[in-house]
Amino acid sequence: MDPELGADVVELGMVRAVSVSPTGVVEVGLALTIAECPMRGQIESDTVRKVKALPGVTDVVVRTTAMSKGQRAELMGVARRRARENAEPTRVSPTTRVIAVGSGKGGVGKSSMSVNLAVGMADLGYRVGLLDADIWGFSIPRMLGAEARLRADDDTRLIVPLEVGGIRFVSTGSIIENEETALMWRGLMLSKALEQFLKQVDWGQLDYLIIDLPPGTGDVQMALSRLLPQAEMLVVTTPQKAAQKVAVRVADMARRSYLPVIGVIENMAGFDCGHGRTIDLFGRGGGQELADDLGVPLIASVPLDPDLVAGGDNGAPIITAKPDNPSAVVLREAVRRVVELVPPAQQETCTARIARLFDELSAVG
Ligand SMILES: Nc1ncnc2c1ncn2[C@@H]1O[C@H](COP(=O)(O)OP(=O)(O)OP(=O)(O)O)[C@@H](O)[C@H]1O
Ligand SMILES: [Mg+2]
Repeated sequence: MDPELGADVVELGMVRAVSVSPTGVVEVGLALTIAECPMRGQIESDTVRKVKALPGVTDVVVRTTAMSKGQRAELMGVARRRARENAEPTRVSPTTRVIAVGSGKGGVGKSSMSVNLAVGMADLGYRVGLLDADIWGFSIPRMLGAEARLRADDDTRLIVPLEVGGIRFVSTGSIIENEETALMWRGLMLSKALEQFLKQVDWGQLDYLIIDLPPGTGDVQMALSRLLPQAEMLVVTTPQKAAQKVAVRVADMARRSYLPVIGVIENMAGFDCGHGRTIDLFGRGGGQELADDLGVPLIASVPLDPDLVAGGDNGAPIITAKPDNPSAVVLREAVRRVVELVPPAQQETCTARIARLFDELSAVG
């Protein structure tokens, strides 16, 4: 079993060759997802142990290689299919496109991007949900300017999502009274919060569910891929050229949770000082570099902008609150690209379409 992907290495296509010598020495060729796979030692020793236990085997030699990009994509396909088959039921419709916003490190603007994307999508008329998966460090309620508390419906016993500007959202910040009491809840119910937000919230029919992930590559990311295998990931990064390290971490997260990456958003790029100069406070090019490393498009490069901060602090997301602001323009373009890359599922059934065609034809006739 691949300890991370939870499937056996044969099914995953990782076993490339097996040979047995007349003296009972078995050689196993094992293709790992990446050469520096952190689980390499464990997979190798598991393989040796399992094979050595077979009758007639005197010794086992494991030769590891790294998969090509194509082989890796194939493996992800198998892993995703398995996850989908084994997924637990949630209240998120299978036709809802799920976009999880993640990053290799914290503070790069995941929450700001999630909120603005959600608001931008709702503004285009899509039915949008926003799930604050940053259970300990929630920021969505403040960014949306929503102080209401979550409640459950008396009849259905389901959590009713809060609604702001047509966006349905949930956050642990909308359960607890203040950030200090949050600590008291730690380990009690909050560890189950993500699962509850997916299984016990009455999301209704959504075109998009945006998930604001906590920083890093921890449990929440892993739980997400288990609970919502249809999820895809949007990676946020800053422009520093130190992209290499981050790229490895993000690629690792995507691999560990086998969530396909849609694209990269570079945030906190050039700052327009207002006197005809753009200052690259955090360097340049990191977004493109990361996108190239991951083999995905760079969706947008959002400028460093104090108005964007103010929008977040005041609960007035810049994308609609200051629509003419250059960062709002870039963000709207980002929304357009995301919708283009991950188009909403076609809600209309074939039968409905045929019926409509008949109506049109008979109207003409
Ligand atoms: N383009 C930008 N220009 C200036 N400030 C920004 C920009 N994007 C985000 N910020 C600010 O940077 C800070 C961190 O942003 P945000 O909370 O969105 O990041 P995050 O990645 O969600 O952080 P965490 O990892 O803690 O969840 C916030 O104060 C936010 O207002
Ligand atoms: Mg955040």
